[in-house]
Amino acid sequence: MDVRLNEEQQAIQQSVRELVRGKIAPRAADIDRSAEFPWDVVDIFRKHDLFALPFPPEYGGLSGSALTLNVAIEEVAKVCATSALILAVQALGCHPIMLGGTPEQQRRFLPALACGEKLAAYALSESSAGSDPAGMETRAQRRGDEYVLTGAKNWITNGGVADTIVVFAKTDPRAGSKGVSAFVLDNARACKGLTATLIHGKLGIRGSNTAELHFDDVVVPAGNRLGEEGDGFKLALRVLDRSRPGVAAQALGIAQGALDYAAGYARERHQFGKAIAEFQGIQFMLADMDAQTEAARAMVYHASNLIDMKAPGVTAAAAICKLLASDAAMRVTTDAVQILGGYGYVNEYPVERMMRDAKITQIYEGTNQIQRLVIARSLLQG
Ligand code: CAA
Repeated sequence: MDVRLNEEQQAIQQSVRELVRGKIAPRAADIDRSAEFPWDVVDIFRKHDLFALPFPPEYGGLSGSALTLNVAIEEVAKVCATSALILAVQALGCHPIMLGGTPEQQRRFLPALACGEKLAAYALSESSAGSDPAGMETRAQRRGDEYVLTGAKNWITNGGVADTIVVFAKTDPRAGSKGVSAFVLDNARACKGLTATLIHGKLGIRGSNTAELHFDDVVVPAGNRLGEEGDGFKLALRVLDRSRPGVAAQALGIAQGALDYAAGYARERHQFGKAIAEFQGIQFMLADMDAQTEAARAMVYHASNLIDMKAPGVTAAAAICKLLASDAAMRVTTDAVQILGGYGYVNEYPVERMMRDAKITQIYEGTNQIQRLVIARSLLQG
């Protein structure tokens, strides 16, 4: 399917491109070096209404289109993967409410997220339940009009900075995936019994806030449960169907950013009396990098378009684009380092950061082994 951007999407793409080149590109190396969450980037996104992209207009949103959002994520990721993740996770944390919330819950939670006043997080994974979230152990026990959460979540992006966290917990531990329910923790940073411990020492996306969350009798009103008890697991998977193309868009942006940098370098760098771009060995590398990046873009647009059209096949398309784009990002960034040679290996140049950032896209929102499992299941089940 040939997916083209409409005029509005092209205009958003262009304005995000200009914004990030001017305001975020100069910050990217520092964000990586300091490994500090870039609140200034959050302010830039707030000021330019980028947080509004995943939301429909009735909640103060700008588009609600997956394609529009993912085009923006790609543009940000071309210069800074950490900053792109802030946009992607705002959508990830809000999708459970958009897909599983009542109109009253949507009115209550979404406007503050659409304007970026509050940041969101999605708390599914645990230390012993990553690829297999049905094995989670966090409990939610009903007590009158409330639930009490106990347990711990791990690897939660935005875990220490989010105000609104959607938490998945077992209301019936004997029922496997059918015993999982979803809850919205509002004003999470002020929640009694909730502590966030920052995870240090990450290979890439170093400015991203990745945290372990501990729930020590955290009280959440029953009115913050999304759907019925037991609906949480399917909701979590429906959300991942929508969010995986966002990670794929992040990977795509990283790949494009590295390719652009390596191509520019190859034109400038002279060896043996001519630009290294004139050597066929380098040309073939750049051609392969371009082909892989373009193929990833086609698949990201295709999956995003299926979401926007509410067409069938989203589960497999989302897994395919995440698999292809993240593998492309890893290969393209590795080759970009190779083209820069020794300069590629030092942090004076951006491609080693891009290579480190690319790695996580093969791991989070489901490892690429899990994506293959999802693709094979869709294929074989027809
Ligand atoms: N949408 C809705 N329902 C779905 C579904 C989907 N895409 N896929 C499956 N289901 C339904 C099934 O039909 C089944 O329903 P019934 O019980 O009624 O038959 C139910 O869900 C359970 O399905 P499975 O038996 O297939 O579930 P499973 O336990 O075997 O797991 C899995 C399936 C695909 C492996 C899933 O566990 C998975 O995706 N694992 C990876 C988890 C993941 O991606 N984590 C990422 C965390 S978020 C993150 O990383 C964010 C970040 O930091 C940026």
